[in-house]
Amino acid sequence: MSSAASRVWFITGASSGFGRSLTEVALSHGDLVIATARNPEALSDLASRVPDSLRVLPLDVTRPDSIAAAVQAALAEWGRIDVLVNNAGQGLIGAVEECADAESRASFETNFFGPLAVLRALLPHFRERRSGHIVQMGAAAAIANYAGFGIYGAAKAALSSLTESLTQELKPLGVRVTLVEPGPFRTDFIGRSLARATATVPDYAATSGRFGQYLARIDGKQPGDPHRAAEAIVRLVQSGEAPQRFVLGRYAIDKTRKTFAAKERELAQFEAAGAATDGV
Ligand SMILES: NC(=O)c1ccc[n+]([C@@H]2O[C@H](COP(=O)([O-])OP(=O)(O)OC[C@H]3O[C@@H](n4cnc5c(N)ncnc54)[C@H](OP(=O)(O)O)[C@@H]3O)[C@@H](O)[C@H]2O)c1
Repeated sequence: MSSAASRVWFITGASSGFGRSLTEVALSHGDLVIATARNPEALSDLASRVPDSLRVLPLDVTRPDSIAAAVQAALAEWGRIDVLVNNAGQGLIGAVEECADAESRASFETNFFGPLAVLRALLPHFRERRSGHIVQMGAAAAIANYAGFGIYGAAKAALSSLTESLTQELKPLGVRVTLVEPGPFRTDFIGRSLARATATVPDYAATSGRFGQYLARIDGKQPGDPHRAAEAIVRLVQSGEAPQRFVLGRYAIDKTRKTFAAKERELAQFEAAGAATDGV
């Protein structure tokens, strides 16, 4: 079924949201997709519709054994992976002090160490082929963070920083890397994919608490359309272009500009004092 022009995608967290939309859009462009999910049943409708070009495999990014098994099965299926989308992720709402150590570490396992483990499992393959595109799913919280998203944003910021290094390491080897930075999109993210800190400290009601209420209010009304996001990501990969960052949705674009401008203003304000520290 594979044609010379088709790409093979490997997508994590494909059961819903961006992952599911990317799976559908890549298939609609004639590509082949290894869609991975903790619960592969979630994709059974799609798998029965396009049995030749879709394989669904179990993969939990926090379980190295499941990553190794999925990568092995994927390579056995079509012999190559052209595009990795490190998409699986989960939010954690709570003030920094409210998030317990175990809750914070679990968030990093899913949003940072999980994607890192997926990368490690596939990088030898990408290096060997001297081609391919790795798409990392970042977040607007890592552009500039909010009260109540400290741990989740920190994990995504860690992923963002890692991606900058990865880009430089892989460019000479012919492998492209892009960090996608979405604003709010209508996926399951604010619903079933948003964990809450168990502890509540009343002093944070006006900051973290309010942010949690705001998220609950906008659930289902986010401006971003995940299908359009998937179309844009597929078009980008097809184009062969690989920006370091691909910011999705007007909200995140405006936020990025405002953040750059605020950083520039603050840098200028304290430039003299900071620069005066040079010298022997
Ligand atoms: N939607 C937004 O507004 C937004 C904004 C910025 C960034 N993002 C990022 O976009 C990515 C996709 O989220 P989404 O918005 O599409 O939300 P979603 O519809 O809730 O999808 C999240 C996906 O991640 C999967 N997942 C969670 N933990 C996993 C694990 N341990 N192993 C494997 N898969 C796991 C979920 O699988 P299950 O079905 O098994 O739970 C689900 O498929 C995430 O990285 C998220 O942080 C989303």
